[in-house]
Amino acid sequence: MINIKILSIILIFTGKLGFSFAQEANGPSDLLSNSFHQDRREVLRSKLPKNSVAVFFASPIRNRSNDVDFIYHQDPDFYYLTGYREPHALLLVFKEEQVTKNGNTYNELIFVQPKNERAEMWTGVRLGTNGTKEQLQILNAFPNTDFQSYDIEFKKFDKILFYDFRNDVRDTRAAGDLFDLIDQFKEKANYNQEELAFEPKKNNLDAVSLKGFMDDLRGIKEPVEIGLIRKAVDISCIGQAEVMKAIKPGMSEREIQGVHEFVFRKYGSEYQGYPSIVGAGKNGCILHYIENYKPEINSKELILMDLGAEYRGYTADVTRTIPVNGKFSKEQKAIYDLVYKAQDAAINESKAGVSFKYTVGVARKIINEGLFELGIIDSINQPHLYFPHGLSHHIGLDVHDKGNYDKMEANMIITVEPGIYIPEGAKCDKKWWGIAVRIEDCILIKESGRPELLSDLAPRKSELIEKMMKLSSPLEKFTLPELDK
Ligand code: GLY
Ligand code: MN
Ligand code: MN
Repeated sequence: MINIKILSIILIFTGKLGFSFAQEANGPSDLLSNSFHQDRREVLRSKLPKNSVAVFFASPIRNRSNDVDFIYHQDPDFYYLTGYREPHALLLVFKEEQVTKNGNTYNELIFVQPKNERAEMWTGVRLGTNGTKEQLQILNAFPNTDFQSYDIEFKKFDKILFYDFRNDVRDTRAAGDLFDLIDQFKEKANYNQEELAFEPKKNNLDAVSLKGFMDDLRGIKEPVEIGLIRKAVDISCIGQAEVMKAIKPGMSEREIQGVHEFVFRKYGSEYQGYPSIVGAGKNGCILHYIENYKPEINSKELILMDLGAEYRGYTADVTRTIPVNGKFSKEQKAIYDLVYKAQDAAINESKAGVSFKYTVGVARKIINEGLFELGIIDSINQPHLYFPHGLSHHIGLDVHDKGNYDKMEANMIITVEPGIYIPEGAKCDKKWWGIAVRIEDCILIKESGRPELLSDLAPRKSELIEKMMKLSSPLEKFTLPELDK
């Protein structure tokens, strides 16, 4: 007779008892740890006002077409605070200890997808409540179907902090889905969308302040986050360097995108942090050009490549602009070196205590003076659209990450990304038309002195790019059969 201990081991391995935790079981070993998430919840709690609760919802599943959804990506705040990567979940972080009718105390609650053998056969194993307790160490975990009946007296709080809701959350057939959780929260918390639209802090509802708390937390990176971002940035830079070696006139923008993204995957990056931008010639003038549909890049063009690997949820954001034929023309080099000069000056000025506004001014001044010297604008004060975007943003779990944008502080990780884009038909000599250059690097702000350049594995100076482009690529040997025309 099989003994009960052996039976339970068999059941654990077949997942029948709901104890197999595939969210992480076969996954990478360098994900953020439970103690990281727990510590972040504690720090958030310390910032919350008295007698308050902060409410976070998982990201919705978004439909791509018919029965195909977009790849699921957890809401970064939800992930940061819990490590939970599944949909249809709700987290409540209370400022003070709460007491149940039975006298038990708790200061956080999470409602998660319950185990469901049939659903798991199609979309993968769920953590369930046991997995959430044991693996994520969030002890007050309940099935999302329990939220409706869970006794929380929202009106007793001075503040209920939450983000106002997106309107694209679909109801599914599953009880306790995100649609239900939001609906039930609205009812329990006495939420009225019209009132809140006019007055985002209404009664005890506050759809404004949570962002500030999360900006404070997420804008300053913990050591483990810095480690993961370093990796995401290194991977992205190696992608840039490999493309510098592999690129040839006649390749398509899409193929070049594929080389970058192949390198990302080769290093275990799970995804891109944002849609990859690969624009040759005038396509580089479109700031967020993500079609990447040009079938053959031209030998005389520049190609602007803005890509970031996402590694364990953290994304890089690195741009390089290179000449397709390996050598910058005179005009291309003049623009490139001007953007480089502006970027280098802005990087050197990016220090703790310095305002974001100041470094933008540093870069803009250099670019305006340079454009004037090249005869592209008539005066340094002439309004123009050749540098139409900002200079720096935080990176992290989002490419445009949460964080404060007043003064720089130690352990912020930000981009520095000046650019010059001269579209065809611009009011300057034709020889400049179609030149688009952005150089984007990621830097770590230090306690004092100049920042650390994290993205130094991708050559940045024009001469070093040309040197790298002379090297041979292993992809030269990678050939595929011709397809019938
Ligand atoms: N890749 C988007 C940006 O540079 O901000
Ligand atoms: Mn950027
Ligand atoms: Mn970018």
